[in-house]
Amino acid sequence: MLTFAPRGRSWQAAAASLLLSGCSGCGAQETPRAEPLPAPPPRPGAAAPPSARGTAADGRAGSGQAAAPPAPPPCKEGDEDPEDLRCTGLYSDFSARALAAGVREYRPAFELWSDGTEKTRWIYLPPGSTLDVSRMNDWIFPVGTKLWKEFRAPASGAHRRIETRLLWKTAEDRWTRATYVWSEDGARALQVKTGVPEVPDAPGFAVPAQVDCIRCHAGKTDNPLGFEAVLLAAPEAGGLTYAELVRLGLLARSDGGPLPDAAALDVPGDAVERRALGALHVNCGVSCHHPRGVATHFEMRLDIDARGRVGDVRDTRVVQTAINQPSKLRPPTARPGAPLYRIRPRDPDRSAVLYTMSRRDVPGAPPEQMPPLATRRVDEATVAAVRAWIEAMTPAAGYPRAAP
Ligand code: HEC
Repeated sequence: MLTFAPRGRSWQAAAASLLLSGCSGCGAQETPRAEPLPAPPPRPGAAAPPSARGTAADGRAGSGQAAAPPAPPPCKEGDEDPEDLRCTGLYSDFSARALAAGVREYRPAFELWSDGTEKTRWIYLPPGSTLDVSRMNDWIFPVGTKLWKEFRAPASGAHRRIETRLLWKTAEDRWTRATYVWSEDGARALQVKTGVPEVPDAPGFAVPAQVDCIRCHAGKTDNPLGFEAVLLAAPEAGGLTYAELVRLGLLARSDGGPLPDAAALDVPGDAVERRALGALHVNCGVSCHHPRGVATHFEMRLDIDARGRVGDVRDTRVVQTAINQPSKLRPPTARPGAPLYRIRPRDPDRSAVLYTMSRRDVPGAPPEQMPPLATRRVDEATVAAVRAWIEAMTPAAGYPRAAP
């Protein structure tokens, strides 16, 4: 989630040795389409969250009196890396939080676990533009697309906005990635490139540094990870869904071929299988564990085949690359002679995927948690969903018997 304790590169080397996932640093390598990150501009107050009490956004100490905060500087024409959320085009009226024309809300059917924060997402597509969905697993967005994700968490006893993240396609091969940290009073949200290890009034919550965005967002050719076919086609999706995108004519294939029906893209299986597959897809699959990701031997993404179908549970790569596949993970708690598999049917205790998902790293100990960054609390609901799925993997349900 939001929370990420930077530990330099050491976790990568250790995580590589885990080989459960082979995740040697999710998205650590830039995709060819990702631009080099801009050097942080020398900006007063940039390293500190603008939420610091009594401190004006520009770093000047507040007077402690109820004086009106200084007027924000005007937005700069043509600025592709705005310092102020107000200048990103999300709101037409910032203080009223009125969305700008053309900004639409959407909700992926399954969400990335962000340590329990509440999130809202929006997209803006330039008028008259379409997404190129010739490759259904890897949509290409029109230049000018912007996506925002707002995080809210309990802080100072109430739920408040903590940060709003932005992905903005400014050229065919360039995305701006930024996060704006909200002041406690909600008066402003300013960009913080270096991250905030601990949000002062929301203990346990952190804001990732800009350099960390790409470690996950390199997971697709274009940067967005959740605005994609599977997550928008399943019935749990909301707002601007796949069906709505089709109805509005916003999806196009360069070869003019047909667009799949939403039903063919749905997460397969019964309720237990769907919950587990959907959660693994969004938390592990879209960023790292897929054929072009950094963890290719254990895939967890629900891929759409050339006929435009996800297929049934047995066709999924997670079933094919995990079940009865030996894991190199040797947790200290493991019984001798009882090796772990990525997934061992009906045996959660010897299923490495469940072990790493249930861990959160502590400083000084070898890193073993999954996902490897941006979370400090276990996603108990997903752990329970994957456990229930593993327990239900009976031969009668079509699963193989457990390997020895
Ligand atoms: C741990 C991996 C990870 C990190 C680190 C991360 N993101 Fe994301 N982000 C995701 C995933 C997965 C989604 C889609 C699922 C969701 O929204 O719940 C997402 C969604 C988003 C969205 C909504 C559009 C989309 O891609 O679906 C925005 C905007 C965004 N992230 C911006 C950022 C920015 C900016 C940073 C860095 C400050 C960042 N993210 C860091 C994994 C990550």
